[in-house]
Amino acid sequence: MHVWAVANQKGGVGKTTTSVSLGGLLADQGHQVLLLDLDPHGSLTSYFKYDPDDLSASAYDLFLARQLPADLPESLLLETSHDRIQLLPASTALATLERQVSGQGGMGLVISRALALLWNKFDYVLIDSPPVLGLLMINALAAAEHLIIPVQTEFLAIKGLERMMRTLTMVRKARHNELPYTIVPTLYDRRTQASVQSLRLLRTSYADHMWPAMVPVDTRFREASMAGVPVSMLDPVCRGVQAYSMLLKHLLDTSQQLRARGHDG
Ligand SMILES: Nc1ncnc2c1ncn2[C@@H]1O[C@H](COP(=O)(O)OP(=O)(O)OP(=O)(O)O)[C@@H](O)[C@H]1O
Ligand SMILES: [Mg+2]
Repeated sequence: MHVWAVANQKGGVGKTTTSVSLGGLLADQGHQVLLLDLDPHGSLTSYFKYDPDDLSASAYDLFLARQLPADLPESLLLETSHDRIQLLPASTALATLERQVSGQGGMGLVISRALALLWNKFDYVLIDSPPVLGLLMINALAAAEHLIIPVQTEFLAIKGLERMMRTLTMVRKARHNELPYTIVPTLYDRRTQASVQSLRLLRTSYADHMWPAMVPVDTRFREASMAGVPVSMLDPVCRGVQAYSMLLKHLLDTSQQLRARGHDG
């Protein structure tokens, strides 16, 4: 099982879209995929037509259990519009987590432990993280073997990326192994100077960790989210799907190279 976290401390940069799109493509290739929603807003959960305000069980339960029951993670899984994708949903109760568990030690590895109990069930896990640094993001980063950082191609988003880089430095110190990451430019509109110039700036500042292409603005993403399906199910050849297919290939190649060099988490 491979675990990828999708995170950025900036909101609205395409984290949820990236999680669903990559998850959809992996599932299209025949892999069993888990999409794990760790955002208290529950966008990923809502994407698949579940109501994060009205779920009796969710990722929240994983944090409440003092000793994680072995069958709990599996009992939380929900079906989605794609046969090979299951969802471990978020509920809005996750927003209270920080307060609920403050002072309790060992809370940073709750998700790692929960995923260990699902090891044989899935080929890939994608964790959609909230846009704030806190216990949930720390759990996502601790569980991941690779981090995907979507960045909107505009200047404010690049500022947000600097903050994410500081978080990553901190997390890497706490982990006993590296956390490789890939920066993914999103919502690229080649007709705007902001997109063109900020992409150029990203490439000069973060050369080694950049995915060399970008995800364009494509209205198919919104249509797919309204339909509750990964974008590749709605339109397998649109520009957005082509971009995420290239990204997936890049991530799979990069992971393989890292594993060959013995960096695998
Ligand atoms: N490449 C794209 N082209 C067009 N629309 C997009 C694209 N990527 C994302 N969107 C749209 O932009 C909005 C924000 O995207 P998304 O929800 O994926 O961001 P997010 O980083 O998860 O946001 P949040 O921080 O609120 O969780 C959504 O309405 C989504 O459909
Ligand atoms: Mg989101």
